[in-house]
Amino acid sequence: MKITFQGHACFMLEGEKSRVIIDPFLNGNPLSKIKPKDVKVDAVLVTHGHGDHLGDAVEISKTNGAPVIGTFELVNYCMGKGATGHPMHIGGGFNFPFGRVKLTIAFHSSTTDEGPAGNPCGFLVTMDKKTVYHAGDTALFSDMALIGPVDCAMIPIGDNFTMGIEDAIRAVRLVKPRVAIPMHYNTFDVIRQNPEEFRMGLEGSHTEVKILKPGESVEI
Ligand code: NI
Ligand code: MN
Repeated sequence: MKITFQGHACFMLEGEKSRVIIDPFLNGNPLSKIKPKDVKVDAVLVTHGHGDHLGDAVEISKTNGAPVIGTFELVNYCMGKGATGHPMHIGGGFNFPFGRVKLTIAFHSSTTDEGPAGNPCGFLVTMDKKTVYHAGDTALFSDMALIGPVDCAMIPIGDNFTMGIEDAIRAVRLVKPRVAIPMHYNTFDVIRQNPEEFRMGLEGSHTEVKILKPGESVEI
C-alpha cells in the first residue's frame, strides 16, 4: 500500500486496485498541493465534522460517485448536501469492495456549520493485507493498546487541539505500529511543532517514524 500525505490530517491510501482519501481538507489547507478536482478515489473517509477534516468531502464524493464513510450523524449531514454515503458507528467494521473499514473511538468533538455531528472517530483501514490506523483528532487514551499492532499509524502531534508530542509518543507505544507518521501540525501557528522531537522520542522502539512533507509518499 502506498500512503501519500496531503498536509494536515489528509492522506491518500492506494492499493493495487483501489484508492481512498482520509480527511480531505484541500481547499483552504495551506499545506495541500492538490485540489479536489485532482482526486480520484473509491471512498472518502472523514473522522469528524470540523472543517480541517470534513474539508472537500462532499465535492469529492459527488465528482467520484464515492461514498463518504464515517459516523452516522456526519454521513447523514453529507448526504443532505448531495454526497453518497455509508453511515457507520464506533466499534463497527464493514467489508467494502476496496477493503475493510472499522471505526475506533477518538476523544474530541464533532461539529459542522449546522451544529453537533455525533461523535468523532478514528479509522482502521485494511487494504491489500495491510492495516493502517488514522487516529483522527484525539487525546491519548489507554484503550489505544487494544487497537494495534498495525502496519502504519497516523498520529496527531500538534498539541492544543489534539495530543502533543509527549502524548503522541505514548500513543505510538500503545498502538505498536511498524511505521508511524506524524500529522496535524504546522498547518497553523497554534499547532507548530518540530516532528524530529517525535522521531527522536521513538528511537530504539519497534516503530520507525516517517516524517512526510505534503505530497510525499511511503510504501508500507
Ligand atoms: Ni477537530
Ligand atoms: Mn483538527
